[in-house]
Amino acid sequence: MSEFTPLVLTGDRPTGPLHLGHYFGSLVNRKALAQKHPTYLMIADVQALTDNWDDPQKVARNVREVLLDNLALDLPETTTIYVQSALPAIAELTVFFSNLVTLARLQRNPTVKAEIGQKQEKFGVGGESLTYGFLGYPVSQAADILSLRATIVPVGADQLPMLEQTREIAAKFNRIYGEVFPSPETVLSEGSRIMGLDGNVKMSKSLGNAIYLSDTPEDTLKKIKKAKTDSITGITYDPEARPEISNLMRLYALTQEKSIQAIAGEVESMRTGDFKLHLAESLNAYLSDFRTHRMQLAQNEDYLQEILRKGTQKANEEAQKTLTQVKSVMGIRYF
Ligand code: TRP
Repeated sequence: MSEFTPLVLTGDRPTGPLHLGHYFGSLVNRKALAQKHPTYLMIADVQALTDNWDDPQKVARNVREVLLDNLALDLPETTTIYVQSALPAIAELTVFFSNLVTLARLQRNPTVKAEIGQKQEKFGVGGESLTYGFLGYPVSQAADILSLRATIVPVGADQLPMLEQTREIAAKFNRIYGEVFPSPETVLSEGSRIMGLDGNVKMSKSLGNAIYLSDTPEDTLKKIKKAKTDSITGITYDPEARPEISNLMRLYALTQEKSIQAIAGEVESMRTGDFKLHLAESLNAYLSDFRTHRMQLAQNEDYLQEILRKGTQKANEEAQKTLTQVKSVMGIRYF
């Protein structure tokens, strides 16, 4: 789709500060891409409300945390950071797109399925309190991406089904109404799947198994010490048989900026406790500049507000242009 200029877009849900899973699954990647192309970073407060509708204050509070996590990455000037709820065009596109997606298709989305499974408490065992908003969030995410006609979307592996649905929606819209949208490609980063410290397949705020980028070095050490491992002697990389220790080795390799093979020899004869100390030290060193920068930014409230206000204004203008074109090809302009 060469007629579309390269544009990077990705988003974060403001439900807590960002953690290592986000960092290696998305932040590293987005920074590299932001150095090559104009980049939009959306703080997905509307999406966060789909499963936090009962606590909008938590979402509002965490908009600032996510803003700080992104700014501390030291992104180039060509990066625009904005909030989803301030772009009415996204909500309007969501309505038009919702006609192009079947309920059956939404129910098959593996990420949504897994999330419903995890949220049985909230949605009830049979899903009887599953909301329309939650089930439909992939449609709204397609609107996030397509509202700015993004061509490149860096995300973690759990987001692949969302991107697939986005491409389907774009293709269907283009076919039925007229060519408006690119087919956005996903860019996955290498270390994208970081497991939780409890051995759960996903590091996640809601599972309480995460190390936050904004954690202190002391908290980081405490969490690593408590991380689940097995009782096998020696540190060996075997994701099948030894998922937890392999996950910690992956984190060690990532923070040493080396391959697993390159660190394997160094750690193989360590005792688990000693390896954990090594890992905590490595992680803290790796995150040190980021954390310092984040603390400095957190002291400048006016600057934070200004960044968000300007970014949102720019994104809003672009999204409105898309919406105008959408209405035009759909023929729903009456005056
Ligand atoms: N669903 C993403 C997540 O949970 C966040 C998100 C919202 C997003 N809108 C997006 C990611 C648009 C990429 C593009 O992490």
